[in-house]
Amino acid sequence: MTRSRELLNQMTIDEKVAQLLQLATLFYKGSSHKGQITGPMADMGINEEIVNNSGSVLGGAGAQEVMNIQKTYMENNRLGIPLLMMADIIHGFKTIFPVPLAIGSSWDMELAEKSAEIAAIEAAVSGVHVTFAPMVDLVRDPRWGRVMESTGEDPFLNSDFARAFVRGFQGNDLTNDTNRVAACVKHFAAYGAAEAGRDYNTVDMSERILRESYLPAYKAALDEGCEMVMTAFNTVDSIPASGNKKLMRDLLREEWGFDGVIISDWGAIKEIIAHGVAEDEREAAKKALEAGVDIEMMTPCYVHNLKELVEDGTISESLLDESVLRILQLKEKLGLFENPYRGANVELEEKLILSKEHRQVARELAAKSCVLMKNENVLPLQKEQKIALIGPFAHNGDILGPWSWQGSTEIAVKVDEGFKMKMDPANLFVAQGCDIETVTEQQLQEAVKAAEQAEVIVLALGEHSRMSGEAKCRADIRLPEVQLQLIAEIKKLGKPIAVVLFNGRPLDLHGVIDETDAVLEAWYPGTEGGAAIADLLFGDANPSGKITISFPYSVGQVPVYYNAFNTGRPKDEPVTEYVSKYLDIPNSPLLPFGFGLSYTSFAYGELTLSDDKLTDDTSISVSIDVTNTGDVAGDEIVQLYVRDVVGEVVRPLKELKSYERITLNPGETKTVTFTITEEMLRYHHADLQFASDAGKFIVFVGPNSVETKEKEFVLVK
Ligand code: GLC
Repeated sequence: MTRSRELLNQMTIDEKVAQLLQLATLFYKGSSHKGQITGPMADMGINEEIVNNSGSVLGGAGAQEVMNIQKTYMENNRLGIPLLMMADIIHGFKTIFPVPLAIGSSWDMELAEKSAEIAAIEAAVSGVHVTFAPMVDLVRDPRWGRVMESTGEDPFLNSDFARAFVRGFQGNDLTNDTNRVAACVKHFAAYGAAEAGRDYNTVDMSERILRESYLPAYKAALDEGCEMVMTAFNTVDSIPASGNKKLMRDLLREEWGFDGVIISDWGAIKEIIAHGVAEDEREAAKKALEAGVDIEMMTPCYVHNLKELVEDGTISESLLDESVLRILQLKEKLGLFENPYRGANVELEEKLILSKEHRQVARELAAKSCVLMKNENVLPLQKEQKIALIGPFAHNGDILGPWSWQGSTEIAVKVDEGFKMKMDPANLFVAQGCDIETVTEQQLQEAVKAAEQAEVIVLALGEHSRMSGEAKCRADIRLPEVQLQLIAEIKKLGKPIAVVLFNGRPLDLHGVIDETDAVLEAWYPGTEGGAAIADLLFGDANPSGKITISFPYSVGQVPVYYNAFNTGRPKDEPVTEYVSKYLDIPNSPLLPFGFGLSYTSFAYGELTLSDDKLTDDTSISVSIDVTNTGDVAGDEIVQLYVRDVVGEVVRPLKELKSYERITLNPGETKTVTFTITEEMLRYHHADLQFASDAGKFIVFVGPNSVETKEKEFVLVK
């Protein structure tokens, strides 16, 4: 990376400071000013010289647009240092895949990686160099709008997805493979633990829990070679992440050895002031640079203060140089000094984007991401049936979910379009029934009329995509009232009802799952959503998804998650009133982590262990026979959990340690074998040492985190 060092030596301090600034596309002359704005806009108080020396752009895409911006910029940059083009490519670029919480339900790392690779191909040819993904924040609170962006509540599974997404985005040769983009893992750290599920709210937890549950997925992304890290808006141990030296400098850079680029989230450096941990922009800039944050996104603390901070000796220029060098080295690694346009290609863009192949992968992943939650002899539908399709999502392109800014709701395959691929349209009766949150008498009448003509009714219900995502938190996580009323109204007809749900968070399903015969969770399934849902509802695909975040019995339970501790007064023993319970609702979630049904059924045989003793140098094989006892082929995701019965600190009742997807034909049996090693049993002790203890363990295997077979074994030291 000699070119970077040579450039650094030629840069003036003004040029160095401006290199740390990231601006939205609207600041750039060559821009069409249609770039994505994803945060509060404020007067930046910056001049043209600063823009001409800024280091990177966010929210821009489109081969021609990016080339226009880059060309105009390079004409005005003294040293000809190109811009880094960054954007949020979270679950697809133009071909939109299911939201990450849906992809999480697929448990399919290969397809997850493939979706990221396709997103990278489409983004790179459109001029994007870096994506602000994967988001790997562990989530346990469905009130938070951004649970849709995570893969769920388990650190082990989130880590697998983090690695898969980074592999897909980056490939293994970022310099020469211009079909890939650099990844940026976010939001460091523990953004998903915002108190009360309210976005940007305080996060407070022990360092032990932070390391045990919230940090593993970020570490997994970085171990996979992720090039960048984005800071979180929240505090960690009462210090805003973007100014948190212990978190960034000591842990991320020193302990983990991360020497890539750290970027603040939108305005997060200036927000150190609002947090009350900086007097002014000058102090915010000082704290953030000392914490090791290289790029300031969309606030001017650095450009307004770093020069003075260096010249008055408050911070050393070497600290500034460090950050500038990391940014230049990323540009060099991406080959931008040789070719500032990298993969941008107008002709190729036309050919690659939304290709048939890409859409086919999106359709397959959407089908694997849907979760069958209930089915009492209604699904799959028969193609000859007279079917009423009713609801605000019956014909609605708003199925891409948040963070799909380049996607098109127009070309998204709507549910009714999917149905018409499968059946005679003359037998399909479509009615809106209501809007997301409002209803008219006429809508209801049309819905009843459609239902009266049908043998079976499919209700397509859910949240508007603006009810999910950043700053879209809900305290009441039920379906909107009008939709519950629609269910009640249609139920009066006494016909079989299947519900398809479009939502970005676990919902309180009272009034839905207890009132109907079948429920398919479709989340926001993306561009091919309607086709995938039709594949599933008509049996051309068999549901196999399993939820990776608990669906609460009621929002009053939240946070509720499977890997919880036993407490000193667990509900089920001894049976007295003085135990950990509610007077009015159960402790258990409505649907547990790992839950999902199929059109077939699976039987689990006895659990056998190769040994009931484990040492640091041996392993135990855990085997179980799984049989397809139904009459259609299907996939089953077999899950293995472990419990450390006695630890130096409290240990979860269950921890996911392995899983395997198997495909079984009717009547077929497969023996599934897992391996347990001592390494899988390590945890953070009270002194934060990461190690295992001798003692008793229980291994569980089953179709979800509740219906399991178990056996004990001991770890002998
Ligand atoms: C937003 C989000 C972050 C996103 C960034 C740039 O505020 O928090 O996830 O990458 O701004 O759009």
